Amino acid sequence: MAYTIVIFGASGDLTSRKLIPALYELHRKNRLPPDVRVVGFSRTPFSHEQWRERLAESTAQYESKTFDRAIWDQFAPALFYHPGDIEHLEDFHRLSAFLDQLEGQPGVTRVYYLSTAPKFYEPAIAALGVSGMADQSRGTRRVVVEKPFGTDLQSARHLNEAVHKVFPEQHVYRIDHYLGKETVQNVLVLRFANAIFEPIWNRNYVDHVQITAAEDGVVGRRAAFYDSVGVLRDMFQNHLLQLLALTAMEAPARFEADAIRDEKVKVFRAIRPLRREDVFNDTIRGQYRKYRDEPGVPPDSETATFAVVKLHVDNWRWQGVPFLLRSGKAMPCRTTQIVIQFRAVPHMLFEGGPKMASQSNRLVIQVQPAEGIQLHFYTKVPDGGMRLRQTDLSFSFRDKFSGEMPEAYQRLLLDALHGDASLFARSDEVELCWSIIDPIQETWANPGWPPLALYEAGTWGPPDSVGWMCRQNREWFDYCPVI
Ligand code: BG6
Repeated sequence: MAYTIVIFGASGDLTSRKLIPALYELHRKNRLPPDVRVVGFSRTPFSHEQWRERLAESTAQYESKTFDRAIWDQFAPALFYHPGDIEHLEDFHRLSAFLDQLEGQPGVTRVYYLSTAPKFYEPAIAALGVSGMADQSRGTRRVVVEKPFGTDLQSARHLNEAVHKVFPEQHVYRIDHYLGKETVQNVLVLRFANAIFEPIWNRNYVDHVQITAAEDGVVGRRAAFYDSVGVLRDMFQNHLLQLLALTAMEAPARFEADAIRDEKVKVFRAIRPLRREDVFNDTIRGQYRKYRDEPGVPPDSETATFAVVKLHVDNWRWQGVPFLLRSGKAMPCRTTQIVIQFRAVPHMLFEGGPKMASQSNRLVIQVQPAEGIQLHFYTKVPDGGMRLRQTDLSFSFRDKFSGEMPEAYQRLLLDALHGDASLFARSDEVELCWSIIDPIQETWANPGWPPLALYEAGTWGPPDSVGWMCRQNREWFDYCPVI
């Protein structure tokens, strides 16, 4: 079977930082099917050789640990470049002729990867249709669409309609790179390959779930773009809601794309929509203090760089168990973690035992960067009377497995080639996620509802985020993992 990956936006950052290094790694590990070629398309004029050289340099930089010039030289002949403008239909016709000539035979599976600015998704897809490049009778034609998929429910619906005019849903791969992370896939393995968690994974034993994606970096050179997006659209609509779905979903009957996505969709449908007063009470929005000094950010910007959102999943398993989602830039460290906070024992015999549910057992799934899982529980302090101390059983991927954790894009690119959409978002998922986020975004458009709280860079968000948890008799699990 032969494959062609066509990258639109080939001179961009994502191509050199993520896509080509991932393809190089797949080649190095012998994971790529033998007959794969990659064609870059963008406006900058390069010859094949110039593009290869440019990518050799960037791959050596971004994949420095494993880059080997001799292996690159075996891989590079599979890279081709075709200059063109995504807004010019004639350039698609030229690209089509170039691909036909390069492939030399019909029936080659093509993956069109849209790594362009989002405003070009729709015209590019339409042009793929008009130029005949999406004609499935000439070989399988898939399209991979990067995030963001729309900016709200209405635009996502519109984009889905535009996509479906050209590609049937089964050939559409919407990227959420969090789903390609090993530890995110491991949530399914933890839950559904082990019998011991299922009986306690519900409202009878779980007090609440915390999902945190903290980043120590500031928005920096992305500031002008970020200011039009903010943390809800950037992190919640996609990554955090996907983590929530994997944590809350029922076991699918089979491990296949639609069965998994059907279960996630049920979770999204069960999330209680936030009313205006809920948004006031159950969300926190923050901005780090120096944000307005970032280049391209207006001095009166109200864009949130930090948020907390409390959601309820209205079904039998999760009734009454809040899911507390939190993400921010300029936090003390980079850490993404899912904390399953169990209830306190019904009657504590020992003095000095946990006073609040949030001090009792918890299961911490470290998504990154200290990939692993910890179970926290109490033990007796030896030779200390009946003093108790919380301790943990700890599993770390690095200790148990050799080799580097692969970048998410390796798995996602390989799955797109092989036609496995399990780790990609379906049209209904994306729309449901927007329908959860939109009411928050719309309410936040009213100043003071809730007020934008400033926080110092290097802290866990606005100080009231702690007070807000305290008022619920709960506590954040603020922990910077030691790697
Ligand atoms: C992206 C967001 O989707 O995810 C960025 O646009 C964010 O703002 C990034 O920094 C985080 O990804 P990761 O893999 O570094 O956790």
